[in-house]
Amino acid sequence: MLDKEALLKVTYGMYIVSSMKGQRMNGLVINTANQVTSKPACVSICINRENLTHEYIRDSGVFSISILKQETPLKFIGRWGFRSGRDIDKFEGTSYKTGKSGAPIVLDNALGYLDLKLLDHLSVGTHTIFVGEIMESEMMEDTAPLTYSYYRNIRGGRSSRYAPTYEE
Ligand SMILES: Cc1cc2nc3c(=O)[nH]c(=O)nc-3n(C[C@H](O)[C@H](O)[C@H](O)COP(=O)(O)O)c2cc1C
Repeated sequence: MLDKEALLKVTYGMYIVSSMKGQRMNGLVINTANQVTSKPACVSICINRENLTHEYIRDSGVFSISILKQETPLKFIGRWGFRSGRDIDKFEGTSYKTGKSGAPIVLDNALGYLDLKLLDHLSVGTHTIFVGEIMESEMMEDTAPLTYSYYRNIRGGRSSRYAPTYEE
């Protein structure tokens, strides 16, 4: 038996993952970042194959993770989590910088970030788990991070069918 109530008790944060392809930049909302080792410090993310950012990470071998603040507007999540870079330029009007790895790092609504170089990947059906080694990280503001539970239960935010944790 699969008790979905148990799955809903698993905790997550909310992040913007960004990457690039040539001169083009793109990014998306994820709730699936986890630190997997400390020496070296590595983090995994789980990305749906259909998302444009998937192609960018595979192509460039670099990505960044911006840690979102609790008060991040739902409109911002809507732009990065429900629209595709195939249809809009998400970086237009966005404050960002370039990391040591070369990956773009979104600064809007971020309390800090991790800049990573792709180390390995594992194909898991609809998604790919990418593992990156942290090149650089910085906390810019000591404030509360946005959790998936806060986003859904307190803010009334919706999930996406591309999120691994999606429920019909
Ligand atoms: C709350 C939330 C969590 C999400 N988590 C993930 C995730 O962990 N992995 C993923 O691939 N997509 C996730 N998504 C979906 C992507 O953000 C979405 O499909 C995005 O539009 C893809 O953009 P792209 O095609 O420009 O890469 C999530 C979306 C939301 C709103």
